[in-house]
Amino acid sequence: MKFDYNVLKNSEIFAINRLDATSSHKFFRDENCSSDFLQSLNGKWEFFYAENYAQSLDAEKMDTFPNTINVPGHIQLQGFDVPQYVNVMYPWEAKEKLNVGETPEIFNPIGTYKKIFDIKDYNNNKSYIIRFEGVESAMAIWINNEFVGYSEDSFTRSEFDITKFVKESENTIIVKVFKWCSASWLEDQDFWRFSGIFRDVFIYEKPTIHIEDLFIKTYLNNDFTKSTLSILHKTKNANESICKLALYYENEVLIKQNIDLTKNEISLNITSPKLWSAEEPNLYTLKLSIYNKNNELQEVVMQKVGFRKIEIKNSIIHINGKRVVFNGINRHEFSAKNGRAITKEDILQDILICKQNNINAIRTSHYPNNSYFYELCDEYGIYVIDEANLETHGTWASIFWLEDKKDDILPYDNPKWTNAVLDRANSMLQRDKNHPSIIFWSCGNESFGGENIYKMSKLFKEKDDTRLVHYEGICLDRRFNETSDVESRMYPPVTDIENFLKVHRDKPYICCEYSHAMGNSNGALIKYTNLTETEPLYQGGFIWDFCDQAIEKISPNGETFLAYGGDFYDRPCDYDFSCNGIVFANREISPKMPEVKYCYQNFKIDIYNDNFTILNKNLFINTSNYDCIINILENGKTIKTETIKIDVLPSEIKQYKLPVNTYDFNSKNEYTIIISICLNKDTNWAKQGHEVAFEQKTFGKMIVKQNTNIKPILIDDFNNVGILCEDCQIMFSKVKGALVSYKVKGNELLEDICMPNFWRAPLQNDTGANFPFELAFWKSASMYAKGQIKNIKEHDNFISLDIDYLIPFDTNIVTSNYKIYGDGTINICINVNKTDKVIYMSELGFIFKLPLQYDKFIWYGKGDLENYVDRKNGYKIGLYEKTVEENYVNYTMPQECGNYSDIRYAILKNNEGIGMKVFGDMLNVSALYYTPHELENAKHKYSLPKPYQVVLKIASHQMGVGGDNSWGATAHEEFLLKNNKSYTCNFSISPIK
Ligand code: GAL
Ligand code: MG
Repeated sequence: MKFDYNVLKNSEIFAINRLDATSSHKFFRDENCSSDFLQSLNGKWEFFYAENYAQSLDAEKMDTFPNTINVPGHIQLQGFDVPQYVNVMYPWEAKEKLNVGETPEIFNPIGTYKKIFDIKDYNNNKSYIIRFEGVESAMAIWINNEFVGYSEDSFTRSEFDITKFVKESENTIIVKVFKWCSASWLEDQDFWRFSGIFRDVFIYEKPTIHIEDLFIKTYLNNDFTKSTLSILHKTKNANESICKLALYYENEVLIKQNIDLTKNEISLNITSPKLWSAEEPNLYTLKLSIYNKNNELQEVVMQKVGFRKIEIKNSIIHINGKRVVFNGINRHEFSAKNGRAITKEDILQDILICKQNNINAIRTSHYPNNSYFYELCDEYGIYVIDEANLETHGTWASIFWLEDKKDDILPYDNPKWTNAVLDRANSMLQRDKNHPSIIFWSCGNESFGGENIYKMSKLFKEKDDTRLVHYEGICLDRRFNETSDVESRMYPPVTDIENFLKVHRDKPYICCEYSHAMGNSNGALIKYTNLTETEPLYQGGFIWDFCDQAIEKISPNGETFLAYGGDFYDRPCDYDFSCNGIVFANREISPKMPEVKYCYQNFKIDIYNDNFTILNKNLFINTSNYDCIINILENGKTIKTETIKIDVLPSEIKQYKLPVNTYDFNSKNEYTIIISICLNKDTNWAKQGHEVAFEQKTFGKMIVKQNTNIKPILIDDFNNVGILCEDCQIMFSKVKGALVSYKVKGNELLEDICMPNFWRAPLQNDTGANFPFELAFWKSASMYAKGQIKNIKEHDNFISLDIDYLIPFDTNIVTSNYKIYGDGTINICINVNKTDKVIYMSELGFIFKLPLQYDKFIWYGKGDLENYVDRKNGYKIGLYEKTVEENYVNYTMPQECGNYSDIRYAILKNNEGIGMKVFGDMLNVSALYYTPHELENAKHKYSLPKPYQVVLKIASHQMGVGGDNSWGATAHEEFLLKNNKSYTCNFSISPIK
């Protein structure tokens, strides 16, 4: 049979000769399950790259191909074509005019892969299968010059029977990989657009008697004391088999019996099974050893089994009888080095990061993942929404409200696409159905509503009665509301969820995406997680998303950096919109993570005056694996640590005594009690001592001591005002209208004049909310304000002066007062009057620029990672120290970063211990090498200036970072600085000597 290129363009043909999808169970040659049947074809393949089909035919004339390529891997990360990042729009936009469903012809990169292989221990009585775990987006295969088959769907398996094409040695396989096919219209996920054989390739010998498909289900009774274990299977040559079944829990054999494989369903009864949940992922091992009638071993199937029950009762999702809350994330398969061709190590690393940060659920946004991922979710305990490879966002995003355009929406009700989408649903379900971690099948992402998606949902339900179905898009088209068992939404404000649930109480509600973690973000996450405690139908959400999708590249100045859309001259592109992770693309943990970890923690601790309570929010586990550690801090320094044993049952609350009575705290100091719950033994995801939850509370107030007895000397000259203090000379310039010199023991601390600041380098959330445009008033104010010194006065023990700041477009709004004391302390108070020129102000504060050597930063406030007014729950109060360099947060796109909030005091000093201290009431402080304007100008870290000064930014107020979404939502009202009222910023600096 010849390959007909037209199949590529036909939505109704998505597979030729592809075998029916089956479960991903493992089978081995021996009873120890140490040797499998697989022979890997990974590694170097010969490669020929062409820009379209016609050119790819040149490969047929070549004996050897001009290039080689690694399998698995993407073509675009190995020197051919370029990676392209687009979100909603289709990648061929403005290059080739296509109607919906048509395939690009002019530029549609085709990789022709070739490999010569022998078959190990070839036996011409056996059948041989080739398996591709993932090829994007379509492939055609030839073996020994004969066409074998064709397949689409980038993210599920394709298997072909190659028995009649292969021989013992020197087999030639050719695979043509098409970047785009008709089905590319179904693969419009917001991600990097790649192609290639990006997952493993195997061939395997099929055992003569072989379990081809296996479906294990557990049905538990109402009190979870008994379960039926149902084993459905399809077995080749079952009538020749003797099958020995064994069920193990760890090393203990619970059941051992022979079963008859000619029956398609086998049921076993298990009493008191240890249940599987994310908290306690108990797994059993089912072993099926298959012999022929001569007692010769044919294969051994090994499958992990988790007993668990998922049900909806009273519109609430229950797992094993308990209302579950999903503390979830969305995760793309992604590595900064290899794109979606990730390794097992990459997957494990992500699972560990999730477990260590209290994440209990993952949505495989937006396609079925590498099978190893689900094995780890089973083993480590993660609830999974397994999502079919379907997204058609670009077909409807800009037209869906136009009735006469509905024909362009895919798959909608269009019969030409029904089978293709059902096939995707089926391939996922069949492959993944034995993973207890999977709670929901998801019909896909952002593919609007309609009959085809409803049919996918029906397919899931008909084939699997043990799981729920998820789909978000029905909220745009309510005709087939039963498609989804849950009301699932993206990025609703918390108040919208509350209002919706006031009226609609027929389904549980989850956010399949929320808290958009783009750049410096995740503000007000706690409002969502708090709602899970008060609204039973709201069962949590999945943060968008886990990891920045950015690719390592070399910058013009030779450094490795993380590239985003456009950096490969890929156009059209959506620039940095794929960088939304709570971890960076290189897996460094971002400072957003502590907030996520806190909001997702499973213990709620309340501290009173001499006792505290612990609520164990776990559903199944008590606290025997945890200790409670209490730290008492005096002005940020630990003065007492005590560990106490705790014993709190799941869902229970218990009260304990504090090791101090807070009434005894000394009134001149500030005391903080920090209570941590930590692992008291190693687990497979964290070591003993790992903290899983904490709470803190502060008592009293620290008083920063200041010597006000020394009288400063004033020299009020023509152009300058000098003030001589102890070890400290201060100068204001009347010409500049600013503080221009702060000399401590002869060391000048000011690199530049000091000015108030009202601006932060826009976050992506700010840009999304149009703030750079709307608030630009404050940017020009920060850059071009003019100070005018007035009212220089001598008082008993201080000198005071006022500076009025003229601001472009509204000159009367900023005034200030400076008080200078004899010990060198300057108290600065800035007032901003209300204005109708602008709605909001980014921040209100002051910038000092210090010489580069003052790069040691100490602060007493929240840390140790960056935090902001609406993202500061997960950061402990303490006394911290970092270098200015360490304060910088390497967001893939530079922006405001490195702020610490609730600062009582902060110090910048040099190696000699000379420097400056800032103090005040709950300040925001950052110490970086860059001004807001420098940060704003840079599109990558490499385009920031080489450090030449230290920029100390102090703010009494800074608006929140926001994060409900990054395309219009602002920070919540209470975290914004509305200019319809006046603000004051008050703080002091003093010399450190
Ligand atoms: C959602 C979408 C995600 C991603 C996100 C924005 O609408 O489902 O795939 O595009 O927005 O980062
Ligand atoms: Mg989308």
